[in-house]
Amino acid sequence: MALPAAFLDELRARTPLATVVGRRVKLARSGRNWKGCCPFHNEKTPSFYVYDNGYHCFGCGQHGDAISFVMQAQGMGFMEAVELLAGEAGLEVPKPTPAAAEAERLRHSLQDVLAAAEAAYARRLHLPEGARALAYLRGRGLTEATIARFGLGWSGETRGAIAADLAREGIAPALLLEAGLLRPGDEGRAPYDLFYNRVMFPIRDRRGRVISFGGRILGDGQPKYVNGPETPVFSKRRTLFGLDLAREAARNGAAVVAVEGYMDVIALHQAGFGGAVAPLGTALSEEQLEELWRLSPAPVLCFDGDAAGARAAARAAELALPMLGAERSLRLATLPAGEDPDMLVRRQGPPGFQGVLEAARPLAEALYDLLAEGVAPTVEARAGLARRLEAVADRVADKPLAWEFRRYFRDRMRARRREGATWSARAGRPTGQFGGTFAPLRPPLRIRRVPPGAAPAAAERGRALVAILLHHPGLLPDVEEAFASLDLAADLARLRDAILQWSQTAQMLDSAGLMSHLNGSGLAAEAAQALSAVPVPLPGCAAADAMPAEAGAGWWHFFGLMNPERLDEEVEAARTAFALQADEAAQRRLILLTATRAALLRGEAGETDDP
Ligand code: UTP
Ligand code: MN
Repeated sequence: MALPAAFLDELRARTPLATVVGRRVKLARSGRNWKGCCPFHNEKTPSFYVYDNGYHCFGCGQHGDAISFVMQAQGMGFMEAVELLAGEAGLEVPKPTPAAAEAERLRHSLQDVLAAAEAAYARRLHLPEGARALAYLRGRGLTEATIARFGLGWSGETRGAIAADLAREGIAPALLLEAGLLRPGDEGRAPYDLFYNRVMFPIRDRRGRVISFGGRILGDGQPKYVNGPETPVFSKRRTLFGLDLAREAARNGAAVVAVEGYMDVIALHQAGFGGAVAPLGTALSEEQLEELWRLSPAPVLCFDGDAAGARAAARAAELALPMLGAERSLRLATLPAGEDPDMLVRRQGPPGFQGVLEAARPLAEALYDLLAEGVAPTVEARAGLARRLEAVADRVADKPLAWEFRRYFRDRMRARRREGATWSARAGRPTGQFGGTFAPLRPPLRIRRVPPGAAPAAAERGRALVAILLHHPGLLPDVEEAFASLDLAADLARLRDAILQWSQTAQMLDSAGLMSHLNGSGLAAEAAQALSAVPVPLPGCAAADAMPAEAGAGWWHFFGLMNPERLDEEVEAARTAFALQADEAAQRRLILLTATRAALLRGEAGETDDP
């Protein structure tokens, strides 16, 4: 760095950080330190801590010292921030040495070149030669204020224009080449313009400094857009068009939304959606997702309503899954087919896009819809869907969140089965249509109806099912789906949810571990009640010393009594699973379930609840 380290240490020591931060953030005491709501991402509960010598946000990870705080909060460069703080601290900034000054000059030179180019392009837009370009932008509905805000410009009609403009300011072609404004010529030929005959869109970094350009042809023609190459100051993967403006807007509560194109971002900002950003003509990258999460815990990704849009959404979701967390989720919005946000706000005004934003779906919901689309209502197809959904949940690295995904997917699968059943009944089709390959061979399941007044017995069955699992949680992987589908009384349902949640993360499915988890979750009384011998003693299969096979068979027996249709489905699913993968576990499961079902059909053990 150009400045002596001793000076910087002195400056930091003389700058009370809480005072500097306190001008921007409302701080409250937290022990010896301070805390407040982070100014760098959107949050309602404070996770931004200020210490003697630095700050750290536990939400978004931003951290630094007084200098970096001023740089980030006020969009200043390093020297600018140092100068400001030194002035306040009554220190004089030492004059840089010639060598340090040279290094600094080199570091800034590309940025200077790009800033000069932006000014030159903007100037040309308002010269007579830029009239067509200006008319084009006005014709696309942009106001003078929007054109100025985004710094749009005109490249000039011929090659050599930008080099000539910048030569007058003493900028050599070699620097234009490094800044990505010129392309190296072939075989010893002179470098030539990347942009000519194009409307110029400055691309900026998060602090608003120009780092490259996109250039659009007037009207139709190929390529429609040309973008600057990677340079020491420009990395496509790390940049979002409009981010500098969106940061400010997001801090003031604007929804953060990623769209596809430059013109979409510009039109949306003009329509009042200041949180709009776009990648640079490529699929969203991990770095860009991180950038979005710095602005909002749940940014919206907006995609076209066609097949390509669905593919892009799936790709973005795939990328995001391992990165998700409590404060890092996504929503997906879909545009009407054939429209982009620019067209939408031009045709329907802000309400048109507001509607799209409001219809944005949480990621789990959008993923389910994507995967379930067009899946046939057969057992095989359903099993395939379940596997794909499980694979999605597996990719969520955050355990509690993965569990939320699983629960959501399970609920949707269940709702889907119900819809399928209703539809088949209404349409008067044989259920075989929906039962898959094996269904036509299956005799209808007849189980004696539970007589009226048998409600207490039903409640006892639910209690028995929970009790068996409290003593034998090893059964959970096998019965989980069925268990989740049960209609249980409130206390038992609470226990069930806690048990299922525990099973997602538990290292070992042992009864002692489960009981201590329930105690810790404030469910000790409910668990004790579930295991109690009052009002009636539990069946033998629920005892702690029952053999695992006995416990498993008992579980399915009571389940079948409570929910014959579901048992039926479990048998079907087990048969499919066995057909797909004829291993020992699948076989054991199929035998157990068919035997249970057969026993219930024969009315074996009669009305009794004791297998
Ligand atoms: P679009 O063609 O959807 O852009 O491409 P747009 O903004 O709607 O274009 P207009 O409305 O016709 O002006 C989306 C983005 O893909 C990149 C650009 O970043 C563009 O904004 N792109 C597109 C290119 O880089 N090159 C191209 O030739 C086309
Ligand atoms: Mn467009």
